[in-house]
Amino acid sequence: MAKKSIGKAAKKNPRKAGEKPREARENAPGADRGLGEDLLASRLEEPLEGTWDTLSWSKAFGHLPVMVDQTMECLNVKADGFYVDCTLGGGGHARAILERLGENGRLLGLDVDPEALKWAQAWGQGDKRLSLARLSFDRLEECLREKDLGLADGLVVDLGFNSRQLFDQKRGFAFSLNGPLDMRLNPSLPITAGQIVNGYPEPKLSEIFWRYGEERSAKKLARLIVQRRDREPINNTLELAALVEKALYRPGPKPKIHPATKVFMALRLAVNGELEVLEKFLAQARSCLTLGGIIVIISFHSLEDRLVKLSFRGETVENADPLDGLKTSGKPAFAGGPKSKKGHFHKAKQERIITPDDLKEAPKPQSPYRLLHKKALVATEAQIMDNPRSRSAKLRAAQAV
Ligand SMILES: C[S@@+](CC[C@H](N)C(=O)[O-])C[C@H]1O[C@@H](n2cnc3c(N)ncnc32)[C@H](O)[C@@H]1O
Repeated sequence: MAKKSIGKAAKKNPRKAGEKPREARENAPGADRGLGEDLLASRLEEPLEGTWDTLSWSKAFGHLPVMVDQTMECLNVKADGFYVDCTLGGGGHARAILERLGENGRLLGLDVDPEALKWAQAWGQGDKRLSLARLSFDRLEECLREKDLGLADGLVVDLGFNSRQLFDQKRGFAFSLNGPLDMRLNPSLPITAGQIVNGYPEPKLSEIFWRYGEERSAKKLARLIVQRRDREPINNTLELAALVEKALYRPGPKPKIHPATKVFMALRLAVNGELEVLEKFLAQARSCLTLGGIIVIISFHSLEDRLVKLSFRGETVENADPLDGLKTSGKPAFAGGPKSKKGHFHKAKQERIITPDDLKEAPKPQSPYRLLHKKALVATEAQIMDNPRSRSAKLRAAQAV
């Protein structure tokens, strides 16, 4: 997830004095995430086929959908259209699409987590317009072809994990809940976070923390992890969180976000190959859409958002302007780790890597999309109040041309 939100709404709705950032708040032990902790805990134990009529379906699943109104506005659902929700989760976006579809419309819902699909079978029971598949969205093109489904009028991708996954301690996503170091969104994936932490060579560990977590002390952390695991393995989330806290301790005021936040995020991205999956999906997305079809992507991490932005402009990481992104965010052009804006420009100039003339001469790539908005949309103040998770969401939408 992105480290900080930069949208207007977020600016208008700054944290109150002394209030911790969202990730730290949500991860705090006993935090009320707006869903009623007791209720959620009991839900995780119960089978999904219960009666949830007193709560909305999303609340019952334990995940509130993000920026549904904006997503629907962009999609402009056609009654007889064919849509794909690539990341079903609790089904908030999927149900909003179904509400707008007529009886000849179709919706394909994908997720890699069997819990999300089991849930969708419960809420979507008897709806002939809905079909489901347990599939990673980077295999969408193949799925449409094999199932002979035709091209889609709209694709929705709401990246990352759902809150139910986050708060299920057996899954090991939260650093404040004791659980195994798992972090697989798809329980069939071969590698867990524990295998990475206890088995990967030190340079590889360091690269993960640097590249995915933009963690400045990546090398030191990797070294301390290796020293610790040489004595005894790191067995669970709390042990890892405590080790990170100790390793990254700096005297002075307490850091605003828990030091383990970035490390857990980096491990999650590595375990699930999330950036690689997104890149692979983006490379095929246009071929899955009809002419005029709409793609909407909601991301929570600056690296993900950058991939989406480039792809919608017809660029890839390889052919992108390497100084782009620095101009606005001060972040490295791609996952190269944290560098200062000033330092990066200075180095590029000194080494004459790229000159303004080079950029002028480079042919502009042809985009297969028309952007629906120049800048990413962010959640409204009211949406952030209702669902703090939406604070770091960025929505980009484009039309296939
Ligand atoms: C943020 S949630 C989606 C929430 C959903 N839009 C809703 O309204 O409830 C992201 C979901 O994407 C799923 N997911 C993550 N990576 C995936 C992938 N490669 N393919 C399909 N689903 C994926 C996760 O399991 C999770 O349920």
